[in-house]
Amino acid sequence: MIEILPSLLAGDFARLGEQIDQVAAAGARILHFDVMDGHFVPNISFGLPVLESLRRKTRLQFDVHLMISDADSYAARFIEAGADLVSVHVEACPHIDRTLRLIQSEGARAGAVLNPATPLSTLEHILPIVDYVLLMSVNPGYGGQKFIPYVLDKVRRLREWRSRLGLGFAIQIDGGVTLDNVGVVAEAGVDWVVAGTSVLGAPDPGQALIAMRQAAEAALARRA
Ligand code: DX5
Ligand code: ZN
Repeated sequence: MIEILPSLLAGDFARLGEQIDQVAAAGARILHFDVMDGHFVPNISFGLPVLESLRRKTRLQFDVHLMISDADSYAARFIEAGADLVSVHVEACPHIDRTLRLIQSEGARAGAVLNPATPLSTLEHILPIVDYVLLMSVNPGYGGQKFIPYVLDKVRRLREWRSRLGLGFAIQIDGGVTLDNVGVVAEAGVDWVVAGTSVLGAPDPGQALIAMRQAAEAALARRA
């Protein structure tokens, strides 16, 4: 089953608790947190205190996408603050093998993230240890950008690679996914779809989540 992960970046930061209740009631299981440091990416979002507050409010899983230059120094603190999954960029982590193992040793699931133009080959040696791979379908830093279509080919190739190796990691996509393209995204073979503007940016986030999930599932059913 395909999972839609609402990204809080598109939410109303004065009403996040309420909006989380809306997507939880619509069946969301994992919330996506975009942490930006104004250094690895040209924008600053939010950090540990926001996670801590929301951790007291909901039992949904927290997926923390670290777009920061120094993931090694902060990953454990995000897990302590309530992250269940933490992903780090291969472009930002010179010792990514160590970073992924650190995340797992702190009790979270570890993801490796690739920017749109970063080749899949950078994953070769870490694929057996990752819990998930996040393929960015926009250049990270901002919500509401346009989907980059060549990433669909990366999804298909990564899926093939996974089955050839008999591995079980999940494939996640993030950026520019809307009601119009979630069908082709699902057909390409992703397991988890991050959606910001099209869910928490919508007037009714719960309804928007349900519509996204139905459109993804309808596309998969047509293919079957
Ligand atoms: C971009 C972030 C995304 C963003 C997605 O740097 O990693 O998670 O919130 O937002 P939309 O769905 O609006 O492209
Ligand atoms: Zn993200």
